[in-house]
Amino acid sequence: MHRTIFVTTALPYSNGSFHIGHIMEYIQADIWVRSMRMSEHKIYFVSADDAHGAPIMLKAESMGITPKELTDLYSKERPKYLNGFHIKFDHWHSTDSKENTLLSHEIYKKLQDHNLIEKKIIKQLYDPVKHMFLADRYIKGTCPKCKSDNQYGDSCEECGSTYNPTELINPHSTLTGAKPLLRSSEHLFFKLSDPRCTSFLRRWINTKNINNKNKLQDEVVAKISEWLGKDDENSKLEDWDISRDAPYFGIEIPDFKGKYFYVWLDAPIGYLSSLKSYCTSEGINFEELLDKNNSVEQIHFIGKDIIYFHTLFWPVMLNFSNRKTPDSVHVHGFVTIDGKKMSKSRGTGISPLHYLDLGLNPEWLRYYFASKLNSKVEDIDINKDDFINKVNSDLIGKYINIASRSAPFITNFFSGKLTFDKNTEELMIREIKLKLNLIIQLFEDREYNKATREIMSYADYTNQTFDISKPWEIAKKARNGDASSIKNLHEVCSFAIARFKAISVMLSPILPETAMSICLDFFKIKYPFKWDDALILPEKIEPFKHMMSRIDEKIFSKLFEEQKTKEKESIKMLNDKDLINIEDFAKLDLVVAKIVNCENLEESNKLLKLTLDYGEENYKNVFSGIKSYYKPEDLIGKLVILVSNLKPRKMKFGISEGMVLAASNKDDKSKEIYLIEPSAYTKPGMRIT
Ligand code: MSP
Ligand code: ZN
Repeated sequence: MHRTIFVTTALPYSNGSFHIGHIMEYIQADIWVRSMRMSEHKIYFVSADDAHGAPIMLKAESMGITPKELTDLYSKERPKYLNGFHIKFDHWHSTDSKENTLLSHEIYKKLQDHNLIEKKIIKQLYDPVKHMFLADRYIKGTCPKCKSDNQYGDSCEECGSTYNPTELINPHSTLTGAKPLLRSSEHLFFKLSDPRCTSFLRRWINTKNINNKNKLQDEVVAKISEWLGKDDENSKLEDWDISRDAPYFGIEIPDFKGKYFYVWLDAPIGYLSSLKSYCTSEGINFEELLDKNNSVEQIHFIGKDIIYFHTLFWPVMLNFSNRKTPDSVHVHGFVTIDGKKMSKSRGTGISPLHYLDLGLNPEWLRYYFASKLNSKVEDIDINKDDFINKVNSDLIGKYINIASRSAPFITNFFSGKLTFDKNTEELMIREIKLKLNLIIQLFEDREYNKATREIMSYADYTNQTFDISKPWEIAKKARNGDASSIKNLHEVCSFAIARFKAISVMLSPILPETAMSICLDFFKIKYPFKWDDALILPEKIEPFKHMMSRIDEKIFSKLFEEQKTKEKESIKMLNDKDLINIEDFAKLDLVVAKIVNCENLEESNKLLKLTLDYGEENYKNVFSGIKSYYKPEDLIGKLVILVSNLKPRKMKFGISEGMVLAASNKDDKSKEIYLIEPSAYTKPGMRIT
């Protein structure tokens, strides 16, 4: 029976480049999708950028660009990673899209209809300088329990206790250093503690999916049961705050002015939006496809840090908006490097782009991850020696070795033709079938490490039987014209090649490129493989050509040494370059300008409004964050340097049409800032070159 399956990976935040953890998740899902496609199931494999939320808004602001411009920067570089590692999504969308706004509104309304949304007034810390409510991560202070300094708003890294940000001693905003005020605000809550939700969830986690399989891994069920508690009436689940005050980068709540959906409300809806956008482009009816009564399966691949959102909120949101709920949420562990957590700031982490730039084969990484992944929520360690060993001994020493040893005999003695008599053909097919069925099941169950072990043991067996027959000795006799030796040599090598083809089919979800070149160049058959292709014994081969190289330890070691400099999250690094060339510099139109007027903006603690004369009766208005150091009246008449071709930016107070150059310390807590003043001999309109 051919199934239809909707597969997603978690939607990555679009304020950063992919790291190796993302790539691992995509490789895990991609292998699964490819393996299911080999059974001719119809798969929709989609993902998207998770574009909303405060961190993205603040980062864009600090870079002087809009959140949309920021997320565009990162989405542009996505294909380089995905193509680079042969990860083949059908579609990649964004949560900042019309589809997502519509669907979020729709789902929200359904939840309202079910009386699952409630307004409450809550008190929250507010940054009076930045004019915004502060999420816990933007508040630091002294731990109320152990009195350690510099602890975040939700928990203490020293003593491990958790608390409310309002309990912190001497709290300050990490954004401005200001002392936060306690302010009330009206928020929307999703009533997760409602007995309807908890009893639904209890049922949902314990009933089988459409394939009569568990929806969740045992460890995950255990975790959720803990969260749920024993009894619906006294649920341990807390209601969920789904709204945020402006300023926020997100989807506006239809009937609640100035409020936005919390990013985690619209993020999973992004799964549906991405599929919807794909459906539109393919002329497929999205609502029909995902109809509750349709037998489409829905499966999400995610990491262990986001289980709560995917197994509590998400199924409930879907259920109470009359939509189909996930058939499986598959959770993986975290990538670690030499047993240590990855951290970009400490430079432990392997840059996926660096991996590709070094010319390392992406299929090595795919194979390495596959050899480590199982169906459990376990961390996946990358270890240099282990990696080299796996690739060189398994892929080269076992797998490719079969073809490189047997193919030359077939080419030299039998002009590429293979031979099987009726009897051996039957035996061979039976042998392969047994193995194949096991492998197919292991892929479906996401037991990739068992699958690779089984495949390698089959490769071992193939090599051993080949060795035992001593074909190089038979070949000597065959060369002398001994008829039975010729027949014998032909059979021994044909068996090896038949097994090699079967193994190539089995490995093809992991090694799609190698499989392709083996199909097209070695066997001259059509690509991609279906599972059943393993059971069709090959008739002929082309001469053996190089299929895959061993890892060069020296080059591979560089991956672990130089990662620090790569992938720093800064815009200039996005292009992988630290340096700019003269053309880049020439893009800046820097010009001498005179401040002809300067206004104080009462509402802003940071900004002054400057009117600049930049020659030949040209004027621009610029908002500049220099209020802490300058009085408006002292500025009038001063010469400054204006970046005159900066895109105008809409701000609260009007449009800023450029930027003036100023110097300040890197440390944003110090308020010192000085305008760069050109020589008194310069005149408005002079170009800086
Ligand atoms: N935007 C949310 C997901 C929204 S899904 C509706 C998010 N983004 S993320 O970029 O932080 O993470 C994306 C995925 O990468 C998650 O599944 C997360 O678990 C996974 N990983 C993040 N760090 C990881 C490792 N070190 N190792 C493996 N996976 C990791 O969460
Ligand atoms: Zn503490």
